[in-house]
Amino acid sequence: MTNIHALIEQMTLEEKAALCTGASGWTTVPVERLGVPELVMSDGPHGVRRVPDVHALGAPSLPATCFPTASCLAATWNKDLLYEMGQALAQEAIALNVHVLLGPGVNMKRTPLCGRNFEYFSEDPYLAGELAASLINGIQSKGVGTSLKHFAANNQEFQRFSIDALVDERTLREIYLPAFEIAVKKARPWTVMCAYNKLNGTYCSEHHELLVDLLKREWGFEGVVVSDWGAVHDRVKALQGGVDLEMPGPRPRRTQAVVDAVRAGELDETLLNDAVRRILNLVFRSAETPQEGSFDLAAHHALARRIAGEGIVLLKNNGILPLQSPRRIAVIGRAAREPHYQGGGSSHINPTHIDNPFDELQRLAGPAQLTYSEGYPAIASCEQGLIDAAVDAARNADVALIYVALPASKESEGYDRPDLDLTAQQVALIKAVTAVQPETVVILNNGSAVTMQEWIDGAAAVLEAWMMGQAGGGAIADVLFGKLNPSGKLAETFPARLADTPAHINFPGDNGQVRYGEGLFIGYRYYDAKEVPVLFPFGHGLSYTTFAYSNSRVSATTFNDVDGLSVTVDVTNTGAVAGKEIVQVYVRDREARLVRPLKELKGFAKVELQPGETKTVTFPLDFRAFAYYHPGHKSWITESGEFKILIGASAADIRCTETVMLRSTLELPSLLNRESTIREWLEDPRGRPVAEPMIQEIGERMGAVFGGEGSGSDTIGMDMMGFLLEMPLLSVLHFQEAALPAPAEEFVDSLLAQVHESVPVSG
Ligand code: BGC
Repeated sequence: MTNIHALIEQMTLEEKAALCTGASGWTTVPVERLGVPELVMSDGPHGVRRVPDVHALGAPSLPATCFPTASCLAATWNKDLLYEMGQALAQEAIALNVHVLLGPGVNMKRTPLCGRNFEYFSEDPYLAGELAASLINGIQSKGVGTSLKHFAANNQEFQRFSIDALVDERTLREIYLPAFEIAVKKARPWTVMCAYNKLNGTYCSEHHELLVDLLKREWGFEGVVVSDWGAVHDRVKALQGGVDLEMPGPRPRRTQAVVDAVRAGELDETLLNDAVRRILNLVFRSAETPQEGSFDLAAHHALARRIAGEGIVLLKNNGILPLQSPRRIAVIGRAAREPHYQGGGSSHINPTHIDNPFDELQRLAGPAQLTYSEGYPAIASCEQGLIDAAVDAARNADVALIYVALPASKESEGYDRPDLDLTAQQVALIKAVTAVQPETVVILNNGSAVTMQEWIDGAAAVLEAWMMGQAGGGAIADVLFGKLNPSGKLAETFPARLADTPAHINFPGDNGQVRYGEGLFIGYRYYDAKEVPVLFPFGHGLSYTTFAYSNSRVSATTFNDVDGLSVTVDVTNTGAVAGKEIVQVYVRDREARLVRPLKELKGFAKVELQPGETKTVTFPLDFRAFAYYHPGHKSWITESGEFKILIGASAADIRCTETVMLRSTLELPSLLNRESTIREWLEDPRGRPVAEPMIQEIGERMGAVFGGEGSGSDTIGMDMMGFLLEMPLLSVLHFQEAALPAPAEEFVDSLLAQVHESVPVSG
């Protein structure tokens, strides 16, 4: 074991400052005289993008398995599979001499327009966090580090280097931070990468509250905070803000600025030492993993196929799938020959092999005759001739399979999508083909939701195959021919129209700012609350078999928040083939003082069932499953009362409901103050006994003046109590001062003194 403390003591100030900025595009500074080796990082996240010379930012990278991207991974809802993928990624990283893989990214899909959504998991923080934790645990189990990114509120590419995301505290805590929190607590990533953008006025790279108070102190993160590449503006401020390692480097002037700041007494050397300690820990921990060796290309390709297959979502099926030995198949669409299997930008992998969807289809099609028509050109232009040829082919076949991929240029790191549509030519193609061939299956490759309203009614089936990785072509064939029963479900809502999406009027922001005006209500939380119909709901995905849910039960109908409870359900495969069902558990707070979404995902499981088989699934629900973040208390709180537990096959397909009573064990201080409303006084367990008699008197007096019969009278067209409830007690008392023993302010202060002196009562 290296004695890190002793090492730091031996390092000069210059050496320490230099260690905190990279040596190159991908490496840290070695300190040879003290035996500190360099550390090598590489993107990430769905493959190892190791450039041949790690000391330069170059391309192309060395061949590595290109696994499906995060949207597809999330659609598997399969934690074990992601763990396995993590182990494979680590083996490749080791073989390619990489110590830390830069991923996964767990930013929320605030809008389907975000250009980088393909690299992110979900619109739901719980799902994203749980899946990312599994992937990280898989990677790190082999001694390779990860970088959980991009921390935080990096939910768009538009002006990503500078945009100021304005997000209220509760929304941050409940929506934009929990995926990071879960992954940090459950998987302890070796590094966390801070985002480029600003959050509420401060660059994430200088955000002390985010990086130090929250991540390092509250969540206990012991690893290294690394900057996103180029996210640091001022090295000294970034160190003070919590960035341990600036990437890329070298930046001699910045390093010198750190030295100067320490000498001038402007930067506390203990802060620098803490960053150095974290980096040295990482470097020596990484060095324990023997590098080089090889990996099993074929096995990893097969794993990539398995993952792609589990992530494919059967969105619609009128019974045409699985294909029943058609004799003539018209294969249409460039994506059948030129698969779209990953997105643009830093995550771009140089694959070891690419499955061609057409060839894979041919392999499984037996004696069936396949034709191929291009259908649409590589770039988003219109060529009627291609449509006409496809229509002819479809007319002369038993079945048409249209492979449609969004043009690569439409989804990439660095910019957002302008719309949610397929290209005009692709839409025209699908409409024309389905008009002559009702037996048409549309297979989609894209990284985030697309709209389908214009054409979906004509299609007999639709498969969402995502950016499916290098082996996805085979996985599609497996699903089409029923070699694999589809079991993916959407980890993001597919809206009917762009205008229906939650952030629509607050995206992408202007004047350097983007306001998260929809607050907690992203994804299904929004569509639920607004009762906006969607194309396909969160959690949706069909199978070639059917599942029945029965016998749901809870471990307790009344329980203490700290004890949590568990909910159990039996799931039966009621069809003729084996399949996997993703069971989802949502929690609804029936009544809360602050607004809450109608339901929130708090548990899920993927269950494999043979025909006729039943399995019992149990989900533990802990304190946090019922809590919400209260910005007044600055903590997660529960309130006593009724909760519904909804068990379902999707957010819109709830099969069983349980009702439970939670007893809050919290002893919360009263938040009453001079501005508190009458309702707040009455709802406060300590305020109520102090103020209720007086409030009743006020109601009666006001009623007498305005209506003669007390509250509820309406001689001036008002329900007096309804009117008073939302007024600050102090404001009401100003109108009643004559009846008070003291001026209104003093009087309210005396009530507040009684409240704050009294013993806390359970919430
Ligand atoms: C991206 C990161 C990536 C880094 C290194 C940045 O531009 O935002 O996700 O890991 O570059 O390539």
